[in-house]
Amino acid sequence: MLQNKFEFEYEVYNDISELTEKDAWLLAEARTVTENAYAPYSNFHVGAVAMLSNGEVVAGTNQENASYPVGICAERVLLGNAATLYPGVSIETMAISYNSNTVKSDHPISPCGMCRQALLEYETRVKKPIRLILSGMEGKIQVIKAANTLLPFAFTPGELI
Ligand code: THU
Repeated sequence: MLQNKFEFEYEVYNDISELTEKDAWLLAEARTVTENAYAPYSNFHVGAVAMLSNGEVVAGTNQENASYPVGICAERVLLGNAATLYPGVSIETMAISYNSNTVKSDHPISPCGMCRQALLEYETRVKKPIRLILSGMEGKIQVIKAANTLLPFAFTPGELI
């Protein structure tokens, strides 16, 4: 029997003032773009903004629907935008934030399982990891070097070839 272990490291910052200027700008943009979310059912407004390796910036917000399962998360809206506007271009860093009038936005949230799968496949497609900056409208910030570390034992495109 072989005992294996999976672990990953991530950084924690106390607030936005501890980030580099570039990271702080991206997070501030993600916080602002939460205003464009359409979340009348959950009241949970998520914003994601990414810096691409070609210097372009793309954003996404969650878009809900009266037929609940039709709704889509901010992260996957962003990935669709990036792939459509700048095909083949890698994403260097994605900042994700949220705002709500029903719950506090004072700690990081991390992408849902479906978004983790989508993020991993984007990384695979362009052969570059996506760095994540996770935070609410205030408070602590987590920085993760590669989105794929959030999905160990992932089902990958390689299985289908
Ligand atoms: N949501 C996101 O957009 N991203 C996340 O990382 C977590 C959840 C959305 C989906 C739904 O519209 C609302 O937040 C509540 O789950």
